[in-house]
Amino acid sequence: MKVLVMDGVSEQGLAPLRQQADIEVVIGEKMTEDQLVEVIGDYDGMIVRSATKVTERVVEAAKKLKVIGRAGVGVDNIDRAAATNKGILVVNAPDGNTIAAAEHTMAMMLGLARKVPAACGKLKNGCWDKKAFLGVELRGKTLGVIGLGRIGSAVAKRAQAMEMNIIAYDPYISEEHAKKMAIEIVTLNELYARADFITVHMPKTKETYHMINKESIALMKEGVRIINCARGGIVDEAALYEAMIAGKVAGAALDVFETEPNTDSPLIQLDNFIATPHLGASTAEAQINVAVDVAEEIVAALRGEIVKNA
Ligand code: NAD
Ligand code: MLT
Repeated sequence: MKVLVMDGVSEQGLAPLRQQADIEVVIGEKMTEDQLVEVIGDYDGMIVRSATKVTERVVEAAKKLKVIGRAGVGVDNIDRAAATNKGILVVNAPDGNTIAAAEHTMAMMLGLARKVPAACGKLKNGCWDKKAFLGVELRGKTLGVIGLGRIGSAVAKRAQAMEMNIIAYDPYISEEHAKKMAIEIVTLNELYARADFITVHMPKTKETYHMINKESIALMKEGVRIINCARGGIVDEAALYEAMIAGKVAGAALDVFETEPNTDSPLIQLDNFIATPHLGASTAEAQINVAVDVAEEIVAALRGEIVKNA
């Protein structure tokens, strides 16, 4: 059997696949959709991170593909409906990068509070400007977490260690989970009205697309700070830009953008805006974790055994 591995998935994490005598691992170079359509017929399995888009055309061209693995959480770069129609399993690795994404969110929050990137940029340009960078403390501030799943919960736990008050909105989690974590569950409007910092941690769905928009920002506190390390498109970037120019939003940090890669969003030029190029899962540890998890799932799927994360 042959498994195509795309997008620079961690070699160290591919051990569970490499150990199988009857599975050949092929490391693929970056390909266009046409190139992928041409080669996919040879493969029984495939692993992608986020750069490769497994479109309907790619799925249609597959002849013996049994499983597509995503080395990460979101499977939005895979046409899952087309794959399912063809009886191809789509598996992911939902746990391996939770801490990486939560720590990146904390880095964004601290970076916003203390204006670290802007101050550093100015100093690198030769200017020792102590007055321009008065920050705020996280202690005693209210953090509104939208989406209290794996990453949202890990962020809440870390923010509690910073002595923040945590409120959360998630229509699908149990009261018990929130209670155990000493988190107050509130309505979305209440979260908007009370939070000093808002961080989103849900998938991009029809429901969550542009959830942070002109209308929701209007309900937020003056001087709110907003973070998105989940999925591009949950925050309406045009509305965020307007609100930052108007001074309603004091700072924002996006790791993910509606269009990626993205170097020309006007937000990127604002001093109180922090941008990172989808780095939430980019730690050495997380990349090994997700590769191991997805490689194990691919082996199980190719052997016809039970997979955990389909
Ligand atoms: P998860 O499934 O554990 O948690 C998502 C939570 O969102 C769930 O509790 C769910 O109930 C909640 N939710 C769904 N719809 C909602 C809505 N309308 N309003 C409020 N909450 C809602 O997922 P996770 O592992 O915590 O990942 C969260 C997000 O982070 C995903 O979009 C994932 O793709 C993304 N992610 C990004 C990076 C990165 O590199 N930036 C890394 C890992 C994960
Ligand atoms: C994920 O959904 O796991 C992330 O977006 C990770 C990534 O691919 O960078």
